[in-house]
Amino acid sequence: MQFFLDTANLEDIKKYFEWGALDGVTTNPSLIAKEGVSLEKRIKEIAEVVDGPISTEVVSTDAAGMIEEARKFAKWHKNIVVKIPMIEEGVKALKILSAEGIKTNVTLVFSSGQAIIAAKNGATYLSPFVGRLDDISEDGMALIHEIVTIYKNYDYKTKVLAASIRHPRHVIESAQLGADVATIPPAIFEKLIKHPLTDKGLKAFLDDWEKVKKLQV
Ligand code: E4P
Repeated sequence: MQFFLDTANLEDIKKYFEWGALDGVTTNPSLIAKEGVSLEKRIKEIAEVVDGPISTEVVSTDAAGMIEEARKFAKWHKNIVVKIPMIEEGVKALKILSAEGIKTNVTLVFSSGQAIIAAKNGATYLSPFVGRLDDISEDGMALIHEIVTIYKNYDYKTKVLAASIRHPRHVIESAQLGADVATIPPAIFEKLIKHPLTDKGLKAFLDDWEKVKKLQV
């Protein structure tokens, strides 16, 4: 399973990529807006740090505009993956971008019907938003399960990228269900590593070691 970091914050990207286990980055317009820097500058800065897929989202809502943005992004760096919203115009753009070999991440996905259409149009990644479904009392993980099953049934090559992750269980359950990727906010990546019993156990070992040290000649 691949892990992407879901942030546009360069300090966080530098910090957490040093820990290993991360394979790429996803951004969206809201994450870029928090950074007070232009999209192009930030994406190029991320590309200097990260040797893996970097998702960059279009903001046009018509197919021609999306295609123009996507072609521009794809020239910034070989690792760029263009995020396309799952709307009718996005589907039209996706078909053309797939034919051109531009890597895509279909975003704002909330149903299996959307997932099938994206796969049939050659999406590289598909981002079902599990947290936002949970937020409205639906079942985000059930959607991951449905999509993974459907993609396996028909051998669709589109990778399932669990997005809108809210807590470590979303990551674990995505792994159990066979999602190809989870994109994880920095605070949740950190929570995946921490366990209170690890900290408690280490403290006990180190305290006991102090006693052993006193015995050494
Ligand atoms: C990533 O690609 C998505 O844009 C992101 O995971 C959305 O997360 P949110 O629902 O917490 O905004």
